[in-house]
Amino acid sequence: MHQAAQRVAVVTGASSGIGQATAQQLAQAGYRVFGTSRRAATHAAPGIEMLALDVTSDASVAALVDDVLQRAGRIDLLVNNAGFGVAPAAAEESSLAQAQAIFDTNFFGIVRMTRAVAPHMRLQGSGHIINIGSVLGFLPMPYMALYSASKHAVAGYSEALDHELRTMGVRVSVVEPAYINTPFDANLMAPDAPLPAYRAICEKVGQRVKQVLAGADGPEVVAAIVVRAAAAPAPKLHYTPGLARRMQWLRRFAPARMLDAGVRKDLRLEG
Ligand SMILES: NC(=O)c1ccc[n+]([C@@H]2O[C@H](COP(=O)([O-])OP(=O)(O)OC[C@H]3O[C@@H](n4cnc5c(N)ncnc54)[C@H](OP(=O)(O)O)[C@@H]3O)[C@@H](O)[C@H]2O)c1
Repeated sequence: MHQAAQRVAVVTGASSGIGQATAQQLAQAGYRVFGTSRRAATHAAPGIEMLALDVTSDASVAALVDDVLQRAGRIDLLVNNAGFGVAPAAAEESSLAQAQAIFDTNFFGIVRMTRAVAPHMRLQGSGHIINIGSVLGFLPMPYMALYSASKHAVAGYSEALDHELRTMGVRVSVVEPAYINTPFDANLMAPDAPLPAYRAICEKVGQRVKQVLAGADGPEVVAAIVVRAAAAPAPKLHYTPGLARRMQWLRRFAPARMLDAGVRKDLRLEG
């Protein structure tokens, strides 16, 4: 009797937060799961094969994809989750090197992984790439300009890529969560060119973000959406878990002036 092969998933940034919850739920759903971390050995998790990966390195990406293909022979699902945020800061408070660093992980990390995995999915004639974007990828937030820009890049890339790969039997989705309670907050990049003019407002925004994060959904909410998207026979391009759905609705239907006022009111910005 023919048995369907076990589906193989790769989840980048599976050492904590959304990536860890996603790897766990995919394993529970029957996938053979390869999770990654820059420090794989310290993040062994039951039911998940943890491998080393730095998405900012071409060599590390190539080695990871070769390793998974040697062990499992195929990749059916790639979840590009690895990423980090910026501590609230004005756009002019980060050097160009910092701007490049955030893009190197949040955007070019996805580009590197996609370029390494897409050829195999294309030859298989099937596969799904799910990118973890953010509501800030369609609703930019002040004092998070670089992070918002990196997630806009993810959204634009995902949308174009889905058109291209769909013809080959491969689909692309972008999952765009709002605030999620994870260690994300502990790994923020601090600005390297701080200016006294912005100190008070950034502290205020930082406190507001902390307050919202403390009461936010846990990463399992995003993981459940990823598992649902991965199982869908005709996956959607955009998924907005929890609070993000309301924000997507506002972005689509609310007048721009109302949205502008809403962002300023939410962050208690004057003027
Ligand atoms: N939390 C939120 O509010 C929120 C909202 C919207 C979107 N997101 C997005 O969700 C994703 C996951 O965030 P999270 O909240 O789960 O944060 P997290 O708990 O800090 O997890 C980030 C993960 O990314 C990995 N990572 C970071 N830089 C990497 C690199 N250069 N190469 C490989 N892996 C790297 C980390 O692994 P190691 O340190 O072990 O290498 C870690 O596993 C990010 O893309 C984030 O932008 C988060």
